[in-house]
Amino acid sequence: MEAEKLKELIGKMTLEEKAAFCSGADFWHTEGLERLGIPASMVSDGPHGLRKQDEKADHLGVNESIKAVCFPAGCGTAASFNRELLVEMGRVLGKECQAEGVSVILGPAVNIKRSPLCGRNFEYYSEDPLVASEMAGALVEGIQSQNVGTSIKHFLANNQETRRMTASSQIDERTLREIYLAAFEGAVTKKKPWTVMCSYNKINGVYAAENKKYLTDVLRGEWGFDGYVMSDWGAVNDRVADLKAGLDLEMPSSMGLNDKLIVEAVKNGTLEEGVVDRAVERILNIVYRFEENRDKNAIFDRDKDHEAARRVAEESMVLLKNEDNLLPLSEERKVAFIGRFAEKPRYQGGGSSHINSHKVTSALDASAGNDNIIYAQGYGVEKDETDEALLAEAVKAAAEAEAAVIFAGLPDSFESEGFDRSHMALPACQNRLIEEVAKVQPNVVVVLHNGSPVEMPWISKVKGVLESYLGGQAVGSAQYDILFGKVNPSGKLPETFPVKLEDNPSYLNFPGEKDLVEYREGVFVGYRYYDKKKMEVLFPFGYGLSYTTFSYTNLKLDSRRIKDTEGLTVSVEVTNTGSRAGKEVVQLYVADKESTVMRPVKELRDFAKVELQPGETKTVTFTLGKRAFAYYSTQIHDWHVESGEFTVMIGKSSRNVVLQEDVYVESTVTIPVHYTTDSTFGDVMENPKAAQIVKGLMSQNMLGGSDEGGSVTSEAISGEMIEAMMRYMPLRGVLSFAGGSGVGAKELQALIDKLNEA
Ligand code: BGC
Repeated sequence: MEAEKLKELIGKMTLEEKAAFCSGADFWHTEGLERLGIPASMVSDGPHGLRKQDEKADHLGVNESIKAVCFPAGCGTAASFNRELLVEMGRVLGKECQAEGVSVILGPAVNIKRSPLCGRNFEYYSEDPLVASEMAGALVEGIQSQNVGTSIKHFLANNQETRRMTASSQIDERTLREIYLAAFEGAVTKKKPWTVMCSYNKINGVYAAENKKYLTDVLRGEWGFDGYVMSDWGAVNDRVADLKAGLDLEMPSSMGLNDKLIVEAVKNGTLEEGVVDRAVERILNIVYRFEENRDKNAIFDRDKDHEAARRVAEESMVLLKNEDNLLPLSEERKVAFIGRFAEKPRYQGGGSSHINSHKVTSALDASAGNDNIIYAQGYGVEKDETDEALLAEAVKAAAEAEAAVIFAGLPDSFESEGFDRSHMALPACQNRLIEEVAKVQPNVVVVLHNGSPVEMPWISKVKGVLESYLGGQAVGSAQYDILFGKVNPSGKLPETFPVKLEDNPSYLNFPGEKDLVEYREGVFVGYRYYDKKKMEVLFPFGYGLSYTTFSYTNLKLDSRRIKDTEGLTVSVEVTNTGSRAGKEVVQLYVADKESTVMRPVKELRDFAKVELQPGETKTVTFTLGKRAFAYYSTQIHDWHVESGEFTVMIGKSSRNVVLQEDVYVESTVTIPVHYTTDSTFGDVMENPKAAQIVKGLMSQNMLGGSDEGGSVTSEAISGEMIEAMMRYMPLRGVLSFAGGSGVGAKELQALIDKLNEA
């Protein structure tokens, strides 16, 4: 609806009616108003399938929703590193929403995987903000191409489930910008989600719902967001404050309670009516965007969409180990499928994203027709303790076969929305099963079902590991086809698998003390930390194997020297050097060779997935802008590039850089320096003009006064040493040490004034 008309419509509403529009009509609908013909509009979870509830409503996945199609969860779709695939998945979800009359699907969920323990990691994409925001953006693009809205969530810094409704994420400005805001930024600025869902937690002491800085200044002011912000379910604390901060829609309905507070606040002058009008306008704008673009012919074809879910699953799995090229397996040989997840896979997580799948294909289902498969359950799913009879049966089956595939992973009770994991281990019974099977069978492959890293104490005893994440309802078909080589695996890890939990950078500060969660690792999240510390990891960020091989050649930068306002074009050739068709994820990292601020060793700045036939070569081209070289300066509150050399790296993973070239980037921005008596000589020497001014002073006998202190070229102390020592000497040091130089407080101040003018 045109803005003018919308305003006119709102003009006809009473204050009470407008206040009512600021919260839902019920659990899943926005308000409607018959008198003016305004329809109510439905929203539903999300993010990897449609959880449309009809009657009994809840936000924890307790009551049933309509039969729908469960796609792989975010943990897996991120591993595809395939934007087009997510656009396609989004299109399918968008069509389903059109068919079901859902105006906004509640996702994608982009929060950074800060700790492997976050219960909701399975819904989230990555430890890297670029991956999170690019994959989320692709899903937004696909869904919204069908004229259905998305709600990118949970804004902001909601990285754990422990005390999620009260905890405060204590994060410094630079870290927020470079990591936690960045996960949303690209998706919001480039793909324009219709809505944003604010999170439950506080950010530096202020609830997300009433955080004007992020909901308004950053989201709307800086990023140009023009949809409506809705609360997470029950995230509203102080309705009037929230409204002022930029939270338009409270969900679910406040049952009239907060409507009254809004009306009261307008009447007593503490809230401008214009703020209410603005929220209603934003909400109705989206309601009508959906209403006016309904696809009356849309149908929800569940079987067809199951096939789409299968295609996504095929790219969402990561082959982590394949010793002796044990995989792919041959259908001609006897293979033991071991583990309850082979029969009843864990393919999605618990909570608000839980889909009522219309059908599920397990690996055993997918193996129908292969008479060489034998099966043993191996373990009881929700338990840590070993069931000795199940174990014995599994070991026997494994010994009889030529290879054993163990379907392992985390049970629902270990990993879910609403609480965090307490450790990073698989159930003890599964670890023991793997060890025992490996004793009788040299050809063991472990297939994992989990939303976040697990420890693998048995890694050296098995030949193969396939990380299938939470693969959606077609999980078994994808697993089977990868195991038997009908599909060539192409996923890469969107997160680091540390050797043990204690290695994780958030370990000492997760999940915090009571309601205070200090993000003390700063920007050093995931590989940014492990690389900096040169730590051994189990599997690095960006890692994943294929049944074919790829080689990289001809890395070219279109310039060796650019200004930070110019772009840099990078191209590289990738060749499939094996004998099977396959897909490769080309990863581009940038490293600042020298910096005055603490920076990660390198950061992922772009990626592309290419499909190549055997022998085929393709050229992949990237364009890097200022942000690829920048850090966030808290001094100028903006992105800043320090002039100097940067290395552009092409990697097969974060730990396997195959080609690299340097480029000099010249900053067009000078950060103003204000010298004080505490500025050091070193600070001053960094600015050539200022350096000229103090040079004279430095050459005087600064260390120990005039005569005996020694000349700068004595045997004991060289000129270089003097300079090095002087680097940390504050300017005020002249008063104490430069006796006889004639510099007093007055002269010093005059000098500093001169420096500030230089
Ligand atoms: C979750 C959201 C979800 C909402 C509605 C909340 O508990 O945090 O992600 O969209 O419920 O079900």
